[in-house]
Amino acid sequence: MAFTHEKIETNIGLLIILIVITISIGGLVQIVPLFFMHSTTEPVEGLRPYTALRLTGRDVYVREGCYLCHSQMIRPFRAETERYGHYSVAGEFVYDHPFQWGSKRTGPDLARVGGRYSDEWHRAHLIHPQDLVPESVMPSYAFLEDTPADASIISKKMEVMRTLGSPYTDEEIANAPKELEGKTEMDALIAYLQGMGTAIKIRR
Ligand code: HEC
Repeated sequence: MAFTHEKIETNIGLLIILIVITISIGGLVQIVPLFFMHSTTEPVEGLRPYTALRLTGRDVYVREGCYLCHSQMIRPFRAETERYGHYSVAGEFVYDHPFQWGSKRTGPDLARVGGRYSDEWHRAHLIHPQDLVPESVMPSYAFLEDTPADASIISKKMEVMRTLGSPYTDEEIANAPKELEGKTEMDALIAYLQGMGTAIKIRR
């Protein structure tokens, strides 16, 4: 045979080109359909875009790096669904830009933490986790109580989210700063946590 494996393996340029071609085909076949499949692009029934307060809370979550210790993605395995609830489905994340799935679980997965505890529980826990879970290694976020939620850029943020597919009305965007009046970043973060994973009603 004129074209042997040895020729490819001894020619780094050729090897690179062939690897790129192979990976491109694999990528096209596996990734491209996801952009057009109903189950990955349509929101699940009942999913609403983030309110101004929850969107602000989500940004606090990202800024504080909560994703470094918490995932938001329940895999479809018995051990996970028994502990956390219904496994995550793609349609729950269509308004998440970017999504916070994560992979590091120093703490528990939070994908369905919404409604599991009271607001007061979250507040006490975020102020000093060890008051509620003595062995916790989670840091304190007490300062969020003293930081007002930033209303100055919320409308702009929602406009950007709209270009990414969150169906906000002009009215919702105009009223966004009012929704944050008098709220702290703590309020916003708790509102975000309480909405998490609640679009799907089936629990454990
Ligand atoms: C250093 C790792 C770490 C970071 C960073 C961290 N956590 Fe935690 N978190 C934990 C651990 C460990 C637990 C389990 C013990 C406990 O409840 O405190 C936990 C528990 C939780 C729980 C309770 C979950 C449940 O189902 O019982 C919530 C809610 C939570 N964290 C939210 C947050 C938020 C919001 C942030 C960011 C502001 C954050 N965490 C940052 C480690 C972390």
